[in-house]
Amino acid sequence: MANKYHIITYGCQMNKSDSERIATVLKSSGYSPTPNRKEADLVVINVCSIRQSALDRVYGLISNIKNKKSRLYQGLDEQIKTQIKNQKIILTGCILPKDKEKLKNKVDLIFDINQLTNLPQMLSQTNTNLSRHLAIKEFDNLAIKQLNNYLSIKPCYSTFPFAYLPIMTGCNNFCTYCVVPYTRGREVSRPVEEIICEVKELIKRGYKKIILLGQNVNSYKSKTPNSKLKKVNFPKLLKIVNNLPGDFWLTFITSHPQDFSDELIETMTKCEKVMPYLHLPVQSGDNQVLKKMNRHYTVAHYKELIKKIREKFAKIREGFEKNICISTDIIVGFPGETKKQFAQTARLMREIKFDMAYIAKYSPRPGTAATKLKDNIPLKEKEKRWKILAKILEKTALKNNKKYLNKTVEVLIEKQSGNSLYGQTKTFKNVKVYSPEQKITGEIVEVKIKKISPWGLAGELIKN
Ligand code: 5AD
Ligand code: SF4
Repeated sequence: MANKYHIITYGCQMNKSDSERIATVLKSSGYSPTPNRKEADLVVINVCSIRQSALDRVYGLISNIKNKKSRLYQGLDEQIKTQIKNQKIILTGCILPKDKEKLKNKVDLIFDINQLTNLPQMLSQTNTNLSRHLAIKEFDNLAIKQLNNYLSIKPCYSTFPFAYLPIMTGCNNFCTYCVVPYTRGREVSRPVEEIICEVKELIKRGYKKIILLGQNVNSYKSKTPNSKLKKVNFPKLLKIVNNLPGDFWLTFITSHPQDFSDELIETMTKCEKVMPYLHLPVQSGDNQVLKKMNRHYTVAHYKELIKKIREKFAKIREGFEKNICISTDIIVGFPGETKKQFAQTARLMREIKFDMAYIAKYSPRPGTAATKLKDNIPLKEKEKRWKILAKILEKTALKNNKKYLNKTVEVLIEKQSGNSLYGQTKTFKNVKVYSPEQKITGEIVEVKIKKISPWGLAGELIKN
């Protein structure tokens, strides 16, 4: 019987995309997936340690798997009992060296995600009963080993009808609170030809929404052997992908306000497949806090940028696409953040009227520059600040969504349940569609919006 794996992902879109590549390596090593963790020979935990909370979940999960086996045994048949006994735990993702040190004795194998091409070799050394499969699948594994970047591994896509497509990994920005430059290392861009190949494959398979991923996509750089193209920067890449024939939507995450160029604004608006959606993390509405975060822009620059982007979309796009949807990331309770400085963030949120904001309470991460500053905002105060911003967001998101009432919008159907279809608009708004009609996942339908909330829309299918 083939060995089975089960992957658990705690993290961002990049981690989810990495899990799709982990699946390829395990499959080429003779493993097959199982949705049931108890049945798996290998449990792979892919975690992002940007915040302590994800790591806490990992500790909980490991102790659940390891220490509570006896409780799990009750009522299980003999075969599953043996499997649980032999079950191996592998940990990967974005993990800091200090956390690795603490976790290494709790799991069977721990590795950096950019070492993924070496996983088959690492597995065979961890007594996972894998050698037999390695011999059979030697050819596939050799091919994987010879890749110099793990992003070149062909993923097992798992999110049809949309797909995450990493174009680069790592970061050179060193925001003082952030682990990414330490866990993922410096920026590495994928070759443009490889990205084009992956997009073409996705289009061929009927994918309708392609999400280009990178910690800071703006700094994408790739050389191409085609001498006419020379170096390809992010706006050029966006244009190249946009111009590939096919019926698909295109977007990207994440951008940095410090290097969001006019060329990129121009390209975004003119490339008709690029969705009217932008995730642009601001982090704080106070210049001094931004400086302490090592974010090289001012609040005025951010506001000007948003204004330019909104105006350009309103001018160039047609109909509903004139209203670009903007989301952001914000950290509350950064070391030393005064009430006044926090009030500036609240003010900025009211002014910009974000459609979505991922608000995080500052969490000190070992080894990052901000740990030298005293984490002096009590958790209660961080929670209070979080709630204030969440309330503002609820109001602005609801107000923005009112524009959709009684309007007809295109929705990409992503799943179905009972008499309802679920999908998203081109502006990344979640939509519930009441429909007794069976529609196919991946179809783009027209929906008349009848109900709105801050977090989504609901409506009826328009008959063609
Ligand atoms: N504490 C809280 N939030 C953080 N983020 C990154 N590091 C931390 C931290 N130490 C948030 C930022 C970033 C998002 C991915 O996670 O807002 O944009
Ligand atoms: Fe982290 Fe800053 Fe890089 Fe984003 S830009 S990944 S917050 S260091």
